[in-house]
Amino acid sequence: MNEQVKIVEVGARDGLQNERSIVPVFVKQELIRRLGRTGLKVVETTSFVHPDWVPQLADAEEVMAGLKRQPGVMYPVLVPNLKGMQRAVSAGAREIAVFAAASEAFSQKNTNCSIEESIERFRPVIEMAREHDIWVRGYISCVLGCPYQGAVELGDVVRVAESLVELGCAEISLGDTIGTGTPHKAAEMLQAVAQAVPMERLAVHFHDTYGQALANILACVEQGVRIVDCSVAGLGGCPYARGATGNVATEDVVYMLEGMGYATGIELDRLAEVGAWITNQLQKPNYSRAGTARLASMPVNPVMFT
Ligand code: HMG
Ligand code: MG
Repeated sequence: MNEQVKIVEVGARDGLQNERSIVPVFVKQELIRRLGRTGLKVVETTSFVHPDWVPQLADAEEVMAGLKRQPGVMYPVLVPNLKGMQRAVSAGAREIAVFAAASEAFSQKNTNCSIEESIERFRPVIEMAREHDIWVRGYISCVLGCPYQGAVELGDVVRVAESLVELGCAEISLGDTIGTGTPHKAAEMLQAVAQAVPMERLAVHFHDTYGQALANILACVEQGVRIVDCSVAGLGGCPYARGATGNVATEDVVYMLEGMGYATGIELDRLAEVGAWITNQLQKPNYSRAGTARLASMPVNPVMFT
């Protein structure tokens, strides 16, 4: 059997959080439903952050209320603090993600507190997760550069990763939030973190701002990472990282990995159809090269499919 790579689809959260005009709840729910039928095992769903900070996701409760869970699929939600955790638990979340940064400046801009304070905020969140048997992922932003402070020390990335694991995060996602990383630096960063946290618990999360995301993923997969975050049609950006484009497109990652002999469990054509559908709904370009190529070779306009 081919070696597996787990794909974490973040389009409905990381992708949509940067959309200026509010996307209707039913479109979000339909996106999540469609993604759940492509073979994806993880479909990040929404965020229980402060509605003033990310107005696009102010409807988190409504989105969760209409969630149609596909068996075997996880639907994690972002949680910044205990208040967010209480909301997430009330909404029926079974998986959550907390998020910290490797840069002090970004931590302040994104969550209004220092890195240390953010870790302290997660303590009661993760305690509550344990009580409710909720799975926890930890994100680290700005692992290869920060829009406010510039360079980020590798030691800071490693320290935050260690703290999150110590708190009880099952998985750590290393985020190149502004997409400035290049392959050798990405591999070096991953190796440094893997000295402190087992590789099987690490994920990589690349934005494609400088067109380096696929190359960075390849470099990290060659180092042994087997969890990759991406966003259908390359949706997204980051509201607190100016100029950051979307995550690498899921279709492109699936095409590359399957072509290299890894098993993702995802049906590429089905995923490409979801990319076409959501970009049509948002009236945005489809940033997936593999997705648009597959769509062009299909006999019927896939946007018509339901
Ligand atoms: P704050 O203003 O410092 O919060 O925001 P506070 O604790 O001082 O509370 C102020 C008021 O907000 C209080 O209400 C709280 O109850 C309320 P009041 O007593 O005044 O009536 N409040 C909340 N209400 C609803 N939900 C909550 C919540 N928390 C407090 N969860 C906070 C601090 C962290 C909440 C804020 O900064 C925030 O929501 N930040 C989120 C920013 C965000 O979502 N950024 C994008 C996600 S990170 C990302 O995209 C990067 C990633 O993809 C990785 C990568 O790409 O690298 C993960
Ligand atoms: Mg991101």
